[in-house]
Amino acid sequence: MRVAVLGMGSVGRGVLQMIEEKDLGISVTAVADSRSALIDKDGISIDEVLEAKAKSGFCGDRSLTAMDVVKKAAYDVLIEVTPTNADTGEPALTHILTALEKGRHVVTSNKGPISREFSRIRSLAAARGVQVRYEATVGGAIPVMHMLEHGLAGNRVLAVFGVLNGTCNFILTRMAAEGLTYEQALLEAREMGYAEADPTYDVKGIDPAVKLVILANTFCRKPVTLEDVEITGIDLLTNDALRLAEEQHCTIRLIAEAIPDRGILRVAPRLLPLSHPLVVEGTLNAITIETDMAGEITLIGKGAGSVETASAIIGDLLYIRNFHAERHPKKT
Ligand SMILES: NC(=O)c1ccc[n+]([C@@H]2O[C@H](COP(=O)([O-])OP(=O)(O)OC[C@H]3O[C@@H](n4cnc5c(N)ncnc54)[C@H](OP(=O)(O)O)[C@@H]3O)[C@@H](O)[C@H]2O)c1
Repeated sequence: MRVAVLGMGSVGRGVLQMIEEKDLGISVTAVADSRSALIDKDGISIDEVLEAKAKSGFCGDRSLTAMDVVKKAAYDVLIEVTPTNADTGEPALTHILTALEKGRHVVTSNKGPISREFSRIRSLAAARGVQVRYEATVGGAIPVMHMLEHGLAGNRVLAVFGVLNGTCNFILTRMAAEGLTYEQALLEAREMGYAEADPTYDVKGIDPAVKLVILANTFCRKPVTLEDVEITGIDLLTNDALRLAEEQHCTIRLIAEAIPDRGILRVAPRLLPLSHPLVVEGTLNAITIETDMAGEITLIGKGAGSVETASAIIGDLLYIRNFHAERHPKKT
């Protein structure tokens, strides 16, 4: 199976390294970053392209772009791992729609297009008879989409609750453990490289809300958008609130919840007993799925990281390889 990779940042490099290291029988025929691209239908050398990127900042030819890769390269699966734009989904949205139009499968970690244009992307993939998979958009390494789609197949999903933002969870953990103010904990998160220079999307709860939209669209029949989510962040939380919570053997976590039967789609700080399964520490993520047959299942794991996110992408790729092998037995 041949793949083209758009984006050579933390996730893109992690994916390339794992494809190389694990000898998965996957050939990389194109890569692109923001200012260059490399295309070779016979397969590029992953080591060479990683070295070139590290040395020069460019992965290939400066006269080629990501759209050249999408339109001209020979690939079966497009791996879209460029930066997220939650407002427009671009340029990833155009990359994804163009690849699907051409009858190519898509795997992405990019929340923007999947949260904004889920129905459009899904219907186009269905019309072209190809797969679009996005495990890495929610919960990093946690295989929540596989769980919803396969592990819990046949169950009715009644609700999903999650700690979906590692930066917020780190801040809340540090405020509770050390009595830090919100500002001190945010500064520490920045110093550790967990928080962006502009942490607004995380601390105001927009990032977990976007992930909640993706989860809800995956398991609910009624499509939802970011505008449907009631959002409260952690930026106004005082350490007095955490101290009071502790006096009751509780703590506070930023919980994203979708309960379709009650019309609830919300991200807000919630008081939870210390023994609650969603009380995870540091940058961990956790997701509880409540179902009619299986009851409650909680998954806990690393919500970000180069190789951790690559794990989710490789899982999607191997799923597609099986799907692809059934349809094109000689080409895999
Ligand atoms: N990092 C994580 O742990 C994680 C976890 C889950 C999901 N995600 C999502 O995965 C995606 C990638 O994250 P990341 O951390 O790898 O980001 P990153 O380190 O900022 O890397 C982004 C890469 O995309 C390239 N790029 C930017 N604009 C492009 C364009 N128009 N065409 C082609 N390439 C372009 C950049 O090129 P240059 O190298 O030239 O700047 C860079 O190589 C994002 O959507 C992010 O939200 C990340």
